[in-house]
Amino acid sequence: MGARKKIILLGATGSIGASALRVIERHSDRLELVGVVAKSRLAPLAEIARKFSVRDVGLYEPPAGLDSGVLPAATHFYRGIDGVTDLVSSVPADIVLVASAGTAALRPTLAAIERGHTIALANKEILVLAGRFVTDAARRRGVRLIPVDSEHNAIFQCLDAGARSGLRRLLLTASGGAFRDTPLEALRDVTPDQALDHPNWSMGPKITIDSATMANKGLEVIEARWLFDVNPGQIDVVIHPQSVVHSMVEYVDGSILAQLSPPLMTFAIQHALLHPDRADGVVPTLDFSQMMRLDFFPLEPGRYPCLDLAREALCAGGTAPAIFNAANEVAVEAFLGGRIGFLEIPAIIRKSMDSVTSREPGSLEEVLGVESETRRLATQYFSS
Ligand SMILES: NC(=O)c1ccc[n+]([C@@H]2O[C@H](COP(=O)([O-])OP(=O)(O)OC[C@H]3O[C@@H](n4cnc5c(N)ncnc54)[C@H](OP(=O)(O)O)[C@@H]3O)[C@@H](O)[C@H]2O)c1
Repeated sequence: MGARKKIILLGATGSIGASALRVIERHSDRLELVGVVAKSRLAPLAEIARKFSVRDVGLYEPPAGLDSGVLPAATHFYRGIDGVTDLVSSVPADIVLVASAGTAALRPTLAAIERGHTIALANKEILVLAGRFVTDAARRRGVRLIPVDSEHNAIFQCLDAGARSGLRRLLLTASGGAFRDTPLEALRDVTPDQALDHPNWSMGPKITIDSATMANKGLEVIEARWLFDVNPGQIDVVIHPQSVVHSMVEYVDGSILAQLSPPLMTFAIQHALLHPDRADGVVPTLDFSQMMRLDFFPLEPGRYPCLDLAREALCAGGTAPAIFNAANEVAVEAFLGGRIGFLEIPAIIRKSMDSVTSREPGSLEEVLGVESETRRLATQYFSS
């Protein structure tokens, strides 16, 4: 057995973070946690640092007056995005698992790529915001981006089966979210609690709302374009209520390959962290001695406007996906806070995409400028 792979975990206190910790604990003979980061909650982060003997700990947004005394003695504490960027640049590591929500991980991820660390990518927002910059940097440095999002991890695994010249299309599966069977006219009155009740997956609140609107699938379509360098027309979405087939790849000869496992993120996380090795899973896999159904349906036209808007943004290119993403983040936060209704989420994205001019960005700063302009405008729509 070789040396253990050293892992820095961005988003350690989240849902993906918790699953990643299970994988690291289960495979402690192969994996070692060397750095952990959260947004602002130090107490649970300190507990993780203590349990896994991690000395390098960071917060993207440390609250004012924070007492870092809760951290174990001899901890090196990093503050703010600059601090987190410093952590990933200075702590010796093999893999950075990017599992924090939102776009704060963009600069730390680029810094990790510059250091030559493999990136295990759960976060899709940074590819939607700056896919060209992230993938160009990875290509230039010869760094591997291993997808952790279950759909993209499935595709990554299926793409091993054939030459890229033989690829026809990618088929992303989608559960259809909390409201797959809700009559369209009832969607206006659904509550955040109803939207947070996902039929198959247990995830953080933002991505769970995005699953209900299918904005999440839209973000995944954009993510797939960057991760696998395919045309938008080569990415299709199919409804699969059981979330067991995580996605599929169709080759030109008509063969379709799929990856299956229970709807738990530990499978994709473990694959990404141990790649290319395999080991026993954290939990048992599917049991074919039991009755099991796998259903597939086409998308119902008009049910998922957020997915249509994401596709429109992808085809428009330039900063349009960043506008889509920023407007969606603002709208979801407002919905969760009870300030807007469910159907206003796509309405706010539509308005933002119509009012902020998309352009081909010359720099990352330009993308970030468009992102903050969109946030400001989108916020105005519901505060006025
Ligand atoms: N959950 C899933 O099954 C799943 C599947 C595929 C992809 N993903 C992606 O993985 C990422 C994390 O999802 P999650 O469900 O694990 O989220 P989550 O449970 O809400 O956890 C988010 C983590 O990121 C931190 N965080 C929250 N907001 C942040 C911000 N604005 N800036 C920086 N850090 C922030 C949190 O720190 P604090 O605890 O301090 O707030 C926490 O550590 C997302 O990009 C999501 O799209 C998730």
